[in-house]
Amino acid sequence: MVETIEERRPVGATRTTRASNRAQALAGVGSAAHDRLVVPIQEINRVLGGGLVPGSLVLIGGDPGIGKSTLVLQTAAALASSARPVLYVSGEESAQQIKLRADRLEIGGEHVMVLSETNLAEVLAAAEVHNPSLLIVDSIQTVYLDEITSAAGSVAQVRECTARLMQWAKPRQTAVLIVGHVTKEGTIAGPRVLEHMVDAVLYLEGDRYHQYRILRGVKNRFGSTDEVGVFEMADAGLREVRNPSEAFLEERSRNAAGSTVAVTMEGTRPILVEVQALTTATSFGLPRRSANGLDASRLQLLVAVLQKRVGLGLGSQDIYANVVGGLRVAEPAADLAVALAVASSFKECQIDPRTVAVGEIGLSGELRSVNQLERRLNEAARLGFNRVVLPPALGRRSQAFGEGMELCRAATIAEAIEIALG
Ligand code: TYD
Ligand code: MG
Repeated sequence: MVETIEERRPVGATRTTRASNRAQALAGVGSAAHDRLVVPIQEINRVLGGGLVPGSLVLIGGDPGIGKSTLVLQTAAALASSARPVLYVSGEESAQQIKLRADRLEIGGEHVMVLSETNLAEVLAAAEVHNPSLLIVDSIQTVYLDEITSAAGSVAQVRECTARLMQWAKPRQTAVLIVGHVTKEGTIAGPRVLEHMVDAVLYLEGDRYHQYRILRGVKNRFGSTDEVGVFEMADAGLREVRNPSEAFLEERSRNAAGSTVAVTMEGTRPILVEVQALTTATSFGLPRRSANGLDASRLQLLVAVLQKRVGLGLGSQDIYANVVGGLRVAEPAADLAVALAVASSFKECQIDPRTVAVGEIGLSGELRSVNQLERRLNEAARLGFNRVVLPPALGRRSQAFGEGMELCRAATIAEAIEIALG
């Protein structure tokens, strides 16, 4: 059962214009130029599509301890100016605790107003007084409205609090950043409708035990959703990673079997990652297949293709595959790199460290072309790779790709293994 509060219209308020008179020609609607609030942190702007739109609600979700509070505090400090402050409301930490964090982040915080409060009516009253350019609510699960009897964090509270924030923010053209907790299933705790209500939903992901964090847009009314921002959690907070490929390949093992480099795309940005695989004879029972940073069922599919189409005896092998650095790769374009890593480990045969692999693998073992090949190859060339194993069918433009790169075309996975492993 979900409680809903009926909104009462103030007595005497009558509608002056009827909807039939208010409709207007689209061409005649004045386009309010979205003067975005540009955050001086480039990786955030990239994900937002160029900055925060005034009056918009942005939800940031992520696992506990991943760095959401750190990220929003750094955003607050970067945006606050003498002209307009930023109001940072925390329902989880006291002003002193926020101060401790700010000290650690080396944030002076002259124009960042902090408030430790959970009553949303009080929060909005404070926002009315300070007239901030950005209001931050950390987190939506801790604030409540008096009118609703259920506990803070319940479905009704989360929904109504968000609706109230939206009603407040739109007419005042104030951007609002909401932090949301994530449930065990990986969705933002609270009603699904929360994600429908806000203008943008961003997730801060990463492995707690790795330093890299990825800020990913999953919904954005004012921009594309396939851009990601890459950060590194350091002693003084989140640091931007301008060159993710270099960072992910930094500790690469150069002369070990079972390692390949995949070129994946995150939005318009190519990112090179090391894919590792290890195969060992199964000592008992069913062979294990374990994937870290990859889709486990995709790994099983690739192993099946390697068994059936290439004839590798993987049926009695445990197989572990891993994407180094804590990045998650979902793209089929990484198939070839994964398959080559598995074959390389199985055959105990090393792949040339300056070779990259790009291509999707079909069930009959054929290699399929991938999009944005030019971008991928240019990035690989920039990082010093000189050979690429790739699918054959690339059309007429293929000559223009990857200057200075040796293009090794393979029609099937068997051919690709031959080329890569010699
Ligand atoms: P936090 O922002 O509190 O996470 P969330 O709000 O998403 O729960 O981040 C907490 C983690 O970040 C904590 O484990 C310590 C780490 N951290 C650093 O490594 N460096 C720093 O400068 C800060 C502030 C936090
Ligand atoms: Mg927090």
